[in-house]
Parts: sequence; C-alpha cells; structure tokens
Amino acid sequence: MKDILTAPFMTEMIRTAALMYDHGWDERNSGNISLLLDETQVGEYLDTGRVLRTFPTGFTAPGLEGRCFLVTGTGKYFKNIRYRPETDLGVVRLTRGGAAAELLWGFSDGGTVTSEFATHILSHAARLSADPDSRVILHAHPPNLLAMTFVHSLDEREFTRTLWQMCTECIMVFPDGVGVLPWMLCGTNEIGKATAARLRAARLVVWAQHGVYGAGRDLDEAFGLVETAEKGAEIYLKIAHLPRLAAITDAQLRQIEKHYGLTVREGWLD
Ligand code: 13P
Ligand code: ZN
Repeated sequence: MKDILTAPFMTEMIRTAALMYDHGWDERNSGNISLLLDETQVGEYLDTGRVLRTFPTGFTAPGLEGRCFLVTGTGKYFKNIRYRPETDLGVVRLTRGGAAAELLWGFSDGGTVTSEFATHILSHAARLSADPDSRVILHAHPPNLLAMTFVHSLDEREFTRTLWQMCTECIMVFPDGVGVLPWMLCGTNEIGKATAARLRAARLVVWAQHGVYGAGRDLDEAFGLVETAEKGAEIYLKIAHLPRLAAITDAQLRQIEKHYGLTVREGWLD
C-alpha cells in the first residue's frame, strides 16, 4: 500500500488549502474543500474495506452512494492543514444513499467533516449532472467578494455583469456567470439545496455577507474561478466611488465571446 500523504490528490489538496489561507480567504477555520476521488485510486493508498467509523450526514444523495471524498474537517484551521493533514482532513465514503458516511482515513483526533458537508455533497451531485468530469467543491471567505455583497445589488445578472466589466479576463473564466444567494443560515441542508440549484447553471455561487463556492474539474480550476471573481470584486471596490472615464462595453464582451468561442450565460449580455 502506498503512503497516502504522497498521493497527488493529497498533496494538491494541502497545497490548495495553504494557498487559500495565504490569500487571506480562510481565516481561522473558515472555508472548506471537498474532492471527489476515484475509488481505484483510493485503493492504492487505503484498505477500502477498513471503516474507522460511520456517522449520519443528515441528508441523502442517492446518486453518490459509494463515492469517496477527501474533505476538510469542521473547525480545522486552514493555516494548519499543511502541518497536520491526518487530523484536519478525512477520506469518507457515502453509504445508505448518502444518509451516512464511512471514515476511511484521517480526522485522527476524533473530528468530523465540515459543517457545510450537505452543501458540498448536494453541490457535487448538481455539478456532476451538468459536467460528469466535475470533481471539486471549494468554499472560501474572500474579502472583496464578501464586501461587494454589502454595496452591490444581489441580482445574479447584475452582480455577474459588474464582475465581467471589471477585468477583461472575467468573462473568459466564468462565462457561465455567478449565482448569488441572499444571506441564509449556513451549515444547513436548506443553504445546501439552494447552492446546488444555482451550481447547475454556474460554477460560482456567492453567499451574501458570507463567502463564495467554486466548482471545478480539479482544484486549480475551482481555485482559479474564485481567484478571478475575487480580483473582479477587488477592482470594483477600488473604483466604485470614483468617476468612470472608461468601461468594458457589452459590444466588447461580445467580441471576447466570439473570438474565444465562449458560451456566455443566455440573456446576460445586452
Ligand atoms: P467548517 O469549519 O465547519 O468547515 O465551517 C467553516 C465555514 O466556512 C462555514 O461556512
Ligand atoms: Zn463559510
């Protein structure tokens, strides 16, 4: 059996969590990540017949029965994940139609999965229905996106258009746009269902006054989505109160769409 701490999925997860902390997106225990693993790949590192413990999840996700995830633990500080992955991360397998999870590795101090596990798993199910290669759900509290939700309309089309207008690259990176949820109680199935519903159409969902979710085929894609939206929000906050002498117009956004063959969210450009 190979050492799981050397598995590419593990080293990438640790590297991403460290980067998220270093970007100022994940103070204390804020943020969480889940990565859908390939079961045969897991079998190279773990005896998948050895279940350390089983716990209820509080939701169901029948389509993901038997699937394994590498996931951050609740209350775990992102600044520490790189130093103690075996306590701060876990490999879990969904069972009983998703109503329970089996711990295969990690959470060695008795810990458990993120309090946003429902959002993660329901979001994986939603993204997989849109893209069978989707693997990652990532949540962070990036300051500029968060700040923007206090001063900008939360209308999804308006919010997305403002971000697209802030850097030329934004529409290239997220032509599918950004979903926005009003403030809701976090750590619940309700916010999980609402997030998952928006993730069917877009790979980014902003939680007003809280943070953002990004989805991707790998950790780099999910990280890059959040990174780019956060840059757009940063530019917005730098210029929102200043007179505008220039703008990226809808005609220019259409030029980008055509040149790069993008599928821009229907009806979101004038
Ligand atoms: P967890 O520590 O349970 O992952 O919660 C952090 C968070 O960001 C909640 O939204
Ligand atoms: Zn959060």
